[in-house]
This record gives sequence, C-alpha cells and structure tokens, in this order.
Amino acid sequence: MSASGHSNTGGRPGLPVRGNVVLVGFMGSGKSSVGRLIARTLRGRFVDTDRLVTDAAGREITDIFAQEGEAWFRLQESRSLRSLRAGSGLVISTGGGIVTVPENLPLLKALGFVVWLEASEEVLWERVSRNNKRPLLHTENPRATLHALLEKRNPLYASVADLRVDTSGLTHMEVAGQILARQPR
Ligand code: S3P
Repeated sequence: MSASGHSNTGGRPGLPVRGNVVLVGFMGSGKSSVGRLIARTLRGRFVDTDRLVTDAAGREITDIFAQEGEAWFRLQESRSLRSLRAGSGLVISTGGGIVTVPENLPLLKALGFVVWLEASEEVLWERVSRNNKRPLLHTENPRATLHALLEKRNPLYASVADLRVDTSGLTHMEVAGQILARQPR
C-alpha cells in the first residue's frame, strides 16, 4: 500500500482520499454483506464485481458459467475491475476467484486498501453449502473442490492483502468494525 494514496487531509472521518477499500476472500467469507456495512459507515459507494459482470451480461453467474464458461467470466471480471481504476471512495467486494488471474493482482493493490476476509475451511463449507449459487462447487465432491480451491487461493489472497481478518465466529457487524478500526485514514 502506498502511503500517498491514503492520507486523509480532509479532516472528516471517511475513506482515505482517493483510496478505496477492496475486499477479497473465498466464497462465503462475507465480502458483500461486510462491504455494504462499511460503505454505509464511511459514506462510500458499494460496488460488487460479480454484480458488474451480471449486470453487463444480463444473466446470473450460474447461467454465465453454463453458457460461456469460466474463462469468459474471468475476462469480464477483469474488465469490471479495470473499470474501477478511476473511482474513489468505493468499497469494492470482489468474486472469490478474482485473485486467480495474475493481471488482477496489481490492479487490486492499486485500487486501495485490500482486506482479506478469512474463515476456516469448516466455516466456509458450512456457509457455501447453504445454497446452490456457486457453479465452481457444482462438482461430484464439492467439499474436496472447496479444499483444493482454498489451497490454491489462500497464498494469492495473502499476497495482495494489507489486512487479514478471521471472520470465523464473528458477525458481519463485528468484521466491519475490525476493518473500520484498522483502515488507513
Ligand atoms: C467465484 C466466486 C463467486 C463468483 C463466481 C466464481 C469463485 O463470487 O465470482 O461464482 O471463483 O470463487 P463470491 O466469492 O462472491 O461467491
């Protein structure tokens, strides 16, 4: 994180000048819910890269994966991330696989203060198995798939994160509180 992008000289609480808060983490880590809470408190604008992609495509994620495939989804995801470069005062929730595309890593870092929402594998499984909206887990053994994806992705989340918060056992409000207490002003 560069010091210059995050000095808040305006004297009022809120997002760092020109900075954004970027939430990364696995499916089920609470990025969207926590992001909305933070945006409300900081009076920033909440943006969700999944939502940018589905709005542009006019289709749900499961339909995009089924009809166009994951590679196409990743291209649109990277494009939506690039479209945010000019923004400021944003709280950005990202899709769990955004870190798997190498070109996205410097983009994420350049966008602002990157927070990794972590949770134990058991907690993530408990959360994601509640619904059927994650096409990458539509496999014969979704539990094993989750394990393999986590193994691959955890080092990538770690490589971009300015802050990591273990969300296991915490409410969304508690997670938001930890981020707000530690984000640069
Ligand atoms: C994905 C996570 C999803 C969504 C898509 C792929 C992934 O977002 O982008 O289903 O690869 O982990 P959430 O992390 O918001 O569930």
